[in-house]
Amino acid sequence: MTYNEGSKDRLSEITGDSWRLNWHQMPMTGWMNDPNGVCDYKGEYHLYYQYTPGNAHGVGKRSWGHKVSKDLIHFTEQEIFLEPKHSYDKDGAFSGTAIEYKDKLHFFYTGNVEGQVRLGHNFDGREQNVIHVVSEDGYNIEEQEIAIPHHAFPQGYTDHIRDPKVFQVDNMFYMLLGARTEDHHGSILCYESEDLYHWGYNGEFLEGDSQQGYMWECPDYFELNGKSIMLLSPQGILATEYSHQNPHTTTYIMGKVNWDHPTFIPETDLLQLDYGFDFYAPQTFVDRHNRRILWGWMGIGDSLPEYYNPTVHKGWQHAMTMPRELLVENNILKQKPLKEYQELRREKKEFRIINYSDGELNGDSFELQLIFEDTVKEFSMELRQDTTLSYQQGAFTLKHGGSGYGRRTRSVKIEKMDDIQIFSDTSSLEIFINDGAYVLTTRVYPEYGANQAILIDAPVDGQLIYWPLKKVNDDW
Ligand code: FRU
Repeated sequence: MTYNEGSKDRLSEITGDSWRLNWHQMPMTGWMNDPNGVCDYKGEYHLYYQYTPGNAHGVGKRSWGHKVSKDLIHFTEQEIFLEPKHSYDKDGAFSGTAIEYKDKLHFFYTGNVEGQVRLGHNFDGREQNVIHVVSEDGYNIEEQEIAIPHHAFPQGYTDHIRDPKVFQVDNMFYMLLGARTEDHHGSILCYESEDLYHWGYNGEFLEGDSQQGYMWECPDYFELNGKSIMLLSPQGILATEYSHQNPHTTTYIMGKVNWDHPTFIPETDLLQLDYGFDFYAPQTFVDRHNRRILWGWMGIGDSLPEYYNPTVHKGWQHAMTMPRELLVENNILKQKPLKEYQELRREKKEFRIINYSDGELNGDSFELQLIFEDTVKEFSMELRQDTTLSYQQGAFTLKHGGSGYGRRTRSVKIEKMDDIQIFSDTSSLEIFINDGAYVLTTRVYPEYGANQAILIDAPVDGQLIYWPLKKVNDDW
């Protein structure tokens, strides 16, 4: 199905859909994927994103959609920011990032040009140019030029080199690009510049091995609480019973950087950032409160054929996760829901877990916290029509029924359960465990009017706190 952008009928059918989200960011029409250029600039939070407004399957050229917020909760829809209308990006303005410098925003993105001739698996004949865009206000473009043309990329790589992340260390700017080597390893290339206009190649920042996926997309690098951290979205890491169960996954690595010859020296393995079904290609930025905020795509590319999103039949698909604050505590990268989202809470209900009677709570848009006071050996709860969360023999499992539309189970090993914080929206669940040390993100599609009672089976006591969350999204 394709839609005419802006068609009134189409829009009213979409917005009448009971799976439209109450407080997550989603496309007005059509398809959304990666967050791009996320930043806090001149008093406004900007969320740009991969967007195909006319096609809910994502068929067509990606542009950059744009939403703006003053408080990270209420967003307004803006004109499309980047249209792929040049010879250097004619098949898509792919992912990229933004950096503020001398009172202007500088964006770097991937200009995708599909190959005319298929040249085999390694070189499919495409071009992925790095494009530089300058804007004074974040809405209008004043300069746009090729920063690094595809033909200038080094030897030894396939044609897949994309998703620039630009950041500053002392007086130097660095650009990281995700890449696939000729022998199908993921890799990160590093460029440097003194002025954001002239870029020189430094070499590889990091290369994966054959166990770490065939391509690394959407790199990010930052320092947090004294640690150097790389985020990567690898494609093709083989699944084990408790890890990397999606075909593509998002990982982080802690380590240090040798800035004399910029290279990342890992001190950990590739650690999984999210254990659910729908999480990919996140980006981070630092905001006015000096928080490192992470935003992810609440979706995934090449998802397993057995599961899908029924909203595609309503004319839209995918959304963003809620923004989350990152912190390193005891050498663990934790994700914490932003405190701004407490503003969505309506009347609080509180129980002792052992006194809770099944069905006293229900709903689709809520925050729920369970804070255990004893050691949890076993535990289970049902919510959202037919989704079960359970803990048994040291593993936490998310299990969907029919409302998962083919999604079945995801499990993660957790030695000790201290607390669970669940954020539920009309068609999503974000589950934070042990103060954000483990997170599972998933879409879920209960039937309209279904019984969405919350049932709990827990032989341990503790606090149970529940707030319905109010709707803030526009219906356009
Ligand atoms: C990740 C990704 C990026 C690319 C973009 C295209 O989901 O494949 O590598 O730039 O999506 O939409």
